[in-house]
Amino acid sequence: MTTLGTPLSPSATKVLLLGSGELGKEVIIALQRLGVETIAADRYPDAPGQQVAHHARTLVMTDPEQLRALIESEQPDLVVPEIEAIATPALELLEAEGKVRVIPTARAARLTMDREGIRRLAAETLGLPTSPYKFCDSLRELQEAIDTGIGYPCVVKPVMSSSGKGQSKIDGPQDVAAAWDHAMAGGRVSHGRVIVEGFIDFDYEITLLTVRALDAQGATQTHFCEPIGHLQQSGDYIESWQPHPMHPDALAKAHAIGDAITRNLGGQGLFGVELFVKGEQVWFSEVSPRPHDTGMVTMTTQWQNEFELHARAILGLPVDTRLRNPGASAVIYGGVDATGVVFDHIDDALRVPQTDIRLFGKPESFQKRRMGVALAFDTHVDTARQRAREAASKVKPRPAG
Ligand SMILES: Nc1ncnc2c1ncn2[C@@H]1O[C@H](COP(=O)(O)OP(=O)(O)O)[C@@H](O)[C@H]1O
Ligand SMILES: [Mg+2]
Repeated sequence: MTTLGTPLSPSATKVLLLGSGELGKEVIIALQRLGVETIAADRYPDAPGQQVAHHARTLVMTDPEQLRALIESEQPDLVVPEIEAIATPALELLEAEGKVRVIPTARAARLTMDREGIRRLAAETLGLPTSPYKFCDSLRELQEAIDTGIGYPCVVKPVMSSSGKGQSKIDGPQDVAAAWDHAMAGGRVSHGRVIVEGFIDFDYEITLLTVRALDAQGATQTHFCEPIGHLQQSGDYIESWQPHPMHPDALAKAHAIGDAITRNLGGQGLFGVELFVKGEQVWFSEVSPRPHDTGMVTMTTQWQNEFELHARAILGLPVDTRLRNPGASAVIYGGVDATGVVFDHIDDALRVPQTDIRLFGKPESFQKRRMGVALAFDTHVDTARQRAREAASKVKPRPAG
């Protein structure tokens, strides 16, 4: 039985979000609708999720002391990581001490915080198909890895990075040194470890949103959303759509991979399983144990969007992953480096039929910072994609004044 309390009272069901960007903001809104008391933590004040939560906390989440102090003072029923850059060993200790429940599990948060933990689990422990890969700590090791098996073309990424930061494709020997330097500059922490992966010449890539939720008997069941197709530019998502048609054999393989990886990570919640597909072949790429940026499209395509699914699953509530109608999303970038930007022509954007937009409310804009997203639905995915792109392109951010 799931019981929920009254927020801001002694009976409150309290959830602490570690990371409060645009994805955390929507999880918080979904939780608020169920009367859950929410605490939004981030590294900077007025982060999107902090603007809609009951409480806002600003701290360095990679600092184990600060993280422990926050959790011990808030005493949340659930801790929900929204980002990778968290002191996950501190979460594991607190979970082991019985002080907190981490979503989906503290171990999953640790394994997915860098590329090495999750890749070794997927490829070496679970035997899932992945690109060939090697981890390297120097330019010399990188060159050796390429020469002795990975070959060209290949992709280099800092082990600690996200959204394409520090990532580059190497087409031949002339690119290796620059790729190394780029990775060193783009990693989240200063240590110089990278993964080099053989380049997969896929037909398309998908995110398979996979939900682990309790059934009426209290057993965990795995549910899949329809595949989400997406387009990446320099390792960052610019467009996504749902459903992406798949050959039945490829879909069956995708489900098997999604089931295996999420079963191993355990707990309850929604996961974004990233897969590469060529014909009937499917490769595991990576997984987020939380809502996925490409899954923002579900705000216009599903009966329960990925944030509502996550909220329900972590609270032990039933989920419905069915598609309502096809649709698409297109990212609205900042385009300017400025604080307190204004967005012109929102009305024109929303005059594109069957569209909607989300502006995240980030206090500071950068050229390539994701500031919002346009959504569109239609009976045809292609029409929805075109409309989402059109609506996004009409929004014009500019410095205020
Ligand atoms: N081995 C690879 N072969 C081909 N494309 C790749 C490979 N690795 C990454 N990519 C491309 O780069 C994108 C971002 O890489 P990913 O590993 O998902 O990094 P991030 O954690 O930053 O999302 C992928 O969605 C895919 O388009
Ligand atoms: Mg990715």
